[in-house]
Amino acid sequence: MRKAYIAGNWKMNMTPSKGARFASELAKAAKEAGADVKMMVAPPFVTIPAVLEALKGTGIIVAAQNMNDHVSGAYTGEVSPEMLKDLGVETVILGHSERRSYYKESDEFINRKVLLAIEQGMDVVLCVGETLEEREGGKLEEVLTTQLTGDLKDVKPEDMKHITIAYEPVWAIGTGKTATPEDADSAHAFIRAKVAEMYSSDIAENLIIQYGGSVNASNVKALMAKENIDGALVGGASLSVEKFLPIITYDK
Ligand code: PGA
Repeated sequence: MRKAYIAGNWKMNMTPSKGARFASELAKAAKEAGADVKMMVAPPFVTIPAVLEALKGTGIIVAAQNMNDHVSGAYTGEVSPEMLKDLGVETVILGHSERRSYYKESDEFINRKVLLAIEQGMDVVLCVGETLEEREGGKLEEVLTTQLTGDLKDVKPEDMKHITIAYEPVWAIGTGKTATPEDADSAHAFIRAKVAEMYSSDIAENLIIQYGGSVNASNVKALMAKENIDGALVGGASLSVEKFLPIITYDK
């Protein structure tokens, strides 16, 4: 049985003080509503300490949105996994499409970070997904294959328990356009089959695959009802209790 895993990617939103206030309200609301999904929030780096403090003892995971591919050194402006771990952060989102497109992160670079995160004992939410042009050009499976094989290169079978995949079609992120539950499920099924081919059917069966791209209160139920959709990576709708609570309690 795969436990539902719902995550909020705050992107470049929430100052430390706002983030701490919001996190406390969210934790209180989630508890009152009896939310029992695995829950994660990913604040910007500087907001992480305040949110960690606010969420202490709640069981809500605090993740980073990115990290550098080195442990330390002359990399001006960067944050290393060792620094994150020192704070108490044990999960990191890697390969988000905004990092791939705005900051030109390649599969090779993402792979180095995935391997380093694992070496540092961290869990990874690895984002994959196609652009509209790629989908319309019939390249969905080719793109997912390139990303999965490239990003997971040299990741050992025994380390796959540290990997969650987030399928995020680029055209659905922040656009209000969601993949239909059927389209999302078929992409998820493809990812699961590819992981079975790369590793084993057991590993694929246990792999959590989140869907991301304009998830909201009104589409979450239909998405989560699909066999291969095990969770959600939520951007815009994770920034208010009013919008995020119905998502984390989709099964109530
Ligand atoms: P969105 O973002 O929910 O605002 O579309 C999802 C994401 O980028 O993770």
